[in-house]
Amino acid sequence: MSGALLPRDIATWCAARPYLDVRSNDEHTLISYRLARALLRLRPEVDEATVLTAILFHDVGWKAIPADKLVDSVGPKPKYPELQRVHEIEGVAIARPHLQALAVPGVDVETVLAIIDGHDTRKQAISPEDEIVKEADKLWRFTSHGVKTICGWFGTPPKETVAMLEDFVLPQMLTKDGRAMAEALVAQGQAMAWLDDMMHVEAMR
Ligand SMILES: [Fe+2]
Ligand SMILES: [Fe+2]
Repeated sequence: MSGALLPRDIATWCAARPYLDVRSNDEHTLISYRLARALLRLRPEVDEATVLTAILFHDVGWKAIPADKLVDSVGPKPKYPELQRVHEIEGVAIARPHLQALAVPGVDVETVLAIIDGHDTRKQAISPEDEIVKEADKLWRFTSHGVKTICGWFGTPPKETVAMLEDFVLPQMLTKDGRAMAEALVAQGQAMAWLDDMMHVEAMR
């Protein structure tokens, strides 16, 4: 059971999980958690426990948003842009009692809550820990699971989705490490999208 998670983080994941069964947030959270660990290996001075605790709880607030409004709350032209902020506020409210009860050693609850409160709408990082959470959260979009999920949200084909990520999300990466990882995932996404196109052409012949 502990394969993807550090033993310290299993209880935190179990507490967050009931709130992550919307918008593929369970997969998103676990992939972002692993991406955060990859980024942390490059930044050993950053506090790992704070980053990983914040990642596991960062999107629990989506559970409080009406299901029919979820798709229209994100993307280039959202119908309900205010829900981006609401999911952060709700996330803080949901996370607070769980984090207080978990009392993860070495983790300051208010520091984690400050990261959750602003992980999407605050464009600049308030600490190195916040910076890694923001990078790992965005990097998920470039992964094959992220591209597939976003294609489903907006009804866009993979090629367009990858191009949109390259044009609009890549420039928002805050660090050299985050940008390099995003570039690598864009390269993979482009190759897969090209293969997808080629197979369609071949099937039409
Ligand atoms: Fe979020
Ligand atoms: Fe997220």
